[in-house]
Amino acid sequence: MSKTSANSMWGGRFSAGPDAIMEAINASIGFDQRLAPQDITGSRAHAAMLAARGIITPEDAAAIDAGLEQVAEEIARGDFAFSTALEDIHMNVEARLREIIGTPAGRLHTARSRNDQVALDFRLWVREQCDAAIAGLEALMRAFLGQAEAGADWVMPGFTHLQTAQPVTWGHHMLAYVEMFARDKSRFEDARRRMNECPLGAAALAGTSFPIDRHMTAAALGFDRPTANSLDSVSDRDFALEFLSAAAICATHLSRFAEELVIWSSAQFRFVRMSDRFSTGSSIMPQKRNPDAAELLRAKLGRILGATVALFTVMKGLPLTYSKDMQEDKEQVFDAADNLLLGLAAMEGMVRDLTANREALEAAASAGFSTATDLADWLVRELDLPFREAHHVTGALVKLAEDKGCDLPDLSLAEMQKTHGQITEAVYSVLGVQNSVASRTSYGGTAPANVRARVEHWKEVLG
Ligand code: ARG
Repeated sequence: MSKTSANSMWGGRFSAGPDAIMEAINASIGFDQRLAPQDITGSRAHAAMLAARGIITPEDAAAIDAGLEQVAEEIARGDFAFSTALEDIHMNVEARLREIIGTPAGRLHTARSRNDQVALDFRLWVREQCDAAIAGLEALMRAFLGQAEAGADWVMPGFTHLQTAQPVTWGHHMLAYVEMFARDKSRFEDARRRMNECPLGAAALAGTSFPIDRHMTAAALGFDRPTANSLDSVSDRDFALEFLSAAAICATHLSRFAEELVIWSSAQFRFVRMSDRFSTGSSIMPQKRNPDAAELLRAKLGRILGATVALFTVMKGLPLTYSKDMQEDKEQVFDAADNLLLGLAAMEGMVRDLTANREALEAAASAGFSTATDLADWLVRELDLPFREAHHVTGALVKLAEDKGCDLPDLSLAEMQKTHGQITEAVYSVLGVQNSVASRTSYGGTAPANVRARVEHWKEVLG
């Protein structure tokens, strides 16, 4: 179509076509061609419904259906010339349908508008991304479970402020992420459930006078029901905002573990070794193994959260119903979804391949007076000291060890008794990191027995 002739879809009242710049800013085909499968699926359901309700003839519906199938094949083959003059995927598909089947193509848009059409297409697309995110999260949870099971009783330092706090188990640390990703999964499931209403049939904004059957199209497209308010149907993008919000929280979790991998794989920590498959070398420093994938994952939240903020900003303050601003929804969501799914897959691979350095973990767990709390607890339990006093006595013993340049278990009984006369030999049993973690059997605590039970729980949940 030449730039000076009026648009064949809506140009009836126009005598001239758009300026080239207008066409450039207006067109979405450059990105919304990704919605082609959803657009065609929606149109086929719409045409079948129109025929079932006697709004178009069965012959026209059959021609439309066969024509749309051909268009879908052409697009899938990469054999389709997308046109900017035709603005978007909806008009590109319809124009090609007209080339293929002629006049009946013009009946497809009966009782429909691009407003409910795009709301439908985009919802179908986001719904698929929810399913993909859920599957990606399940695979990732399984990878973390594998690590947790293997290292249920490996001891490592637990940190607060990135300072050694108390010994914990590797399995427990891995399971912390399983809990996070399970919540992420439930957020996508929840969003999917809420978005699973079909906007098709809201038409431009007010509904239609044609005797359509919205329940029929909703069911055909796998929705639980049609949306209940036509104005809301064409102006709602909550489903995309919810998807992005869930994606941003999930990417935050990915980013946090990515950061731990970066720290843990450093020469200073040596807690883990990332596989060659997920490391890169340096072109100048031959000794280097860089955790590039983890760093990129740490950064992915930046763009996913950026997309989230962008779409919230687009939507805020928009009057009902559709405004063209809303065309700006797609690129953000596409980019966020692509990067989230890539991030989930990359993290799954990294976690599966990850080798924990059990010796380094245990050595680090023993350093830094990590069993000081166990000592204080022992003083409370065995000597009946009030916790505050026990804390004080322990602090003095830590100071003593620090001054001597040794760890708590290296202090002699005589030295300990100088600080508190009633301390006995038995105290040494709680100063070892293995005893420390084994004793943390409170619900949700780090004890290996708890870890193993929780691994079983998650295996059952994931099936
Ligand atoms: N390309 C448009 C979008 O993505 C489709 C809807 C156009 N509707 C309209 N009334 N101009 O939002």
